[in-house]
Amino acid sequence: MRMIHCLVLPCLVLSVICGSPSIGASGEPSSGKSEVCTFLPGQGTWLDTDGHAIQAHGGGMLYHEGIYYWYGENKDGPTLNGNRVDVIGISCYSSRDLYRWKFEGLALKAVPDDPKHDLHPSRVCERPKVIFNDKTRKFVMWVHIDDAKYQYARTGVAVSDTPVGPFRYVESFRPNGGESRDMTVFKDDDGKAYVIFGTGWHTHVQIADLTDDYLKPSGVYTNHFQRPGPPTSREAPAIFKHQGRYYLITSGTTGWACNEAMYAVADSIHGPWVEKGNPCVGKNADKTFFAQSTFVLPVAGKKDAFIFMADRWNSENLRDSQYVWLPVRFTDGGIRLEWLDSWDLSQFDKPTKP
Ligand code: GAL
Repeated sequence: MRMIHCLVLPCLVLSVICGSPSIGASGEPSSGKSEVCTFLPGQGTWLDTDGHAIQAHGGGMLYHEGIYYWYGENKDGPTLNGNRVDVIGISCYSSRDLYRWKFEGLALKAVPDDPKHDLHPSRVCERPKVIFNDKTRKFVMWVHIDDAKYQYARTGVAVSDTPVGPFRYVESFRPNGGESRDMTVFKDDDGKAYVIFGTGWHTHVQIADLTDDYLKPSGVYTNHFQRPGPPTSREAPAIFKHQGRYYLITSGTTGWACNEAMYAVADSIHGPWVEKGNPCVGKNADKTFFAQSTFVLPVAGKKDAFIFMADRWNSENLRDSQYVWLPVRFTDGGIRLEWLDSWDLSQFDKPTKP
């Protein structure tokens, strides 16, 4: 049986980061016991419970029956031509506490035998997000599918009966006919789901309703955040809902290089979206603390508790890209992201949250 509390676990098996010596956290594991589990944003390699580097870049989370599932790009290969890693697949990790992550294997695997397949290693498979369909009881993964030059610009869909997979790849398409690059999916409280993606060669972000089975766009959509193109156009969408309002954090479009984030709020998912500027404050806020948004996770069982998840890309060695998680702070009508060298979930229990 898996232990839930970090306090009793040996440091060496911990991932995010209960005194793991590999990231120089809270002391040496001399007692064989960790002190307090701590997130160390962007500092060193986060390890899974087997002691291996977590490979879940551009990731997203699903919380299902008491377990968090973290899906992300497995980039554990050499960086090719200074900009990409051959597709390996989409990793899945599970955790009950958000600190210790067990590798569940590749939920979606590359298809090396068929050069024409969307999942051939020579292509691009990024930013996976998984939602659960209560009616069909299927887990549905949406993922950015592209060619190495990012001209194919499609979204792929895969399904599974279990959260850990293996997911069966169904197809890819351009939702509602338009190009689709960085994306996310969002399941609302009423069970309706949406795909949100950069489209029109990065001129706007589309929010598109999904069909009831979550396998296709329904045809209803709206476009937002119009821009002339990179680098000001928006990508890396991360959406969440708090007290009936929707919040969408995006980055600019500068490839692996970091840039300034922007967030917007709306009372309805199709807008109008009010742009509120950069949510990051303090040192390196104009670079999103050297990271790029990927997901905002509501913490189960805690009120007003959301974790901003981002990738600190290492374009020289993409497999070594790091994870930046920070608590979302709610202000009067908005949000704020402040850098913390280390923090833990008790942050959300403090009187001035988080
Ligand atoms: C970024 C995008 C990443 C990846 C990268 C490739 O803009 O957010 O997911 O596609 O470009 O350069």
